[in-house]
Amino acid sequence: MHKRQLDDLALFGGKPLFGELRHVGRPNIGDRDRFMQRVEEMFDRRWLTNNGPNVVEFEEKIAALTGVPHVIAVCNATIGLELVFRALGLKGEVIVPAFTFVATAHALNWLGIEPVFCDIDPSTHTIDPAAVEKLITPQTTAIVGVHTWGRVCDTEALAEVAGRRGLRLVYDAAHAFACGHDGVMVGSFGDAEVFSFHATKFMNSFEGGAITTRDPVLADRIRRMRNFGFSGLDSVASAGTNGKMTEISAAMGITSLESIDTFISVNKRNYDQYSEAVASVDGLKLYELPLEGLTNYQYVVIEVDKARTGLSRDEITEILFSEGVIARRYFFPGVHNMEPYKSRSAGNAPRLPITDALVGKVLQLPTGTAMSEADIAATTDLLRYIIENHAPIADRLRVRHMAS
Ligand SMILES: Cc1ncc(COP(=O)(O)O)c(C=O)c1O
Repeated sequence: MHKRQLDDLALFGGKPLFGELRHVGRPNIGDRDRFMQRVEEMFDRRWLTNNGPNVVEFEEKIAALTGVPHVIAVCNATIGLELVFRALGLKGEVIVPAFTFVATAHALNWLGIEPVFCDIDPSTHTIDPAAVEKLITPQTTAIVGVHTWGRVCDTEALAEVAGRRGLRLVYDAAHAFACGHDGVMVGSFGDAEVFSFHATKFMNSFEGGAITTRDPVLADRIRRMRNFGFSGLDSVASAGTNGKMTEISAAMGITSLESIDTFISVNKRNYDQYSEAVASVDGLKLYELPLEGLTNYQYVVIEVDKARTGLSRDEITEILFSEGVIARRYFFPGVHNMEPYKSRSAGNAPRLPITDALVGKVLQLPTGTAMSEADIAATTDLLRYIIENHAPIADRLRVRHMAS
């Protein structure tokens, strides 16, 4: 349904574009019959958790796909990050980007480690290695990079800084399963990497994650810590927690893996369609993924330039929401502006000009197998209509906000 006049907009009394909401991160679901069959087999075995055959198979398949020898499946990526940080013996301060999901910093904070927030490169949205260097103090023990939107960090520069300054290097690879650059798959970089298979990720296991490392000693330590520190039936060799992935999650993970090529090709089709449509809308810029890199295309991210669109990112978001397009302001307002970090740094807030500007401009649009070509065409037509009619829309929004 095209919007022809302002009254057609749902915010001003019209019918919403979508009756059923179009969310960012609606789950991709693979072959249901195959999944159900795996669940039946799981019940027949009466083996529901504790490193069962589905978990072992899932880990082997991830190892084959990423080319990394050691894979430890976990209940979610947040616990995965905590396990890695603890197993590496991190303490003091760890440098992380503030432009990330809050879990990256929370996993450090949970272990009593201070996250030190670093700015990003405006073109890649990943941690800026030159900015990292300036934040290193005698208390720093590690750098955590985040492969934001599936874009691989500047792994060479970060490895050089970490090596020269004697720091550990970990990657939050929650966005970057099946991504890579220079022929190397994500999973092999740094001391360890952590994937997320949360339901909103393009490849999911309901909840879940995986730790990958090339270091066999670290892998053994993490494997033990995942299971309360048990090293045998009755012997506990170290501190530990419960980070195990369940068999039903692993069944979903294996089933998702079997459809990964379809998920990626649908994501690419969506990305290309958005890219072409957005290119002709003044003031909207699509975040471009590297052509030469291997990527999963799971995020469609635009930056809104208010000076040209005439409407702020938040005004555009409000209109999209009312039309049933649940676009999201990732990672607004930046982790440094969330608690407990905000109060802690009061009076001494980190200087992060690029992050601060970006969190006001970025908008993530719905994609994945739940979005049809027609849905995307309707969404981009709506965006075009909003921006072409920004002046009268802005007037009406002002009146509306004054009245409320
Ligand atoms: C960058 C990033 N790190 C960590 C996480 C946490 O992952 P999980 O939900 O599997 O704990 C997410 C999840 O959304 C994320 O996007």
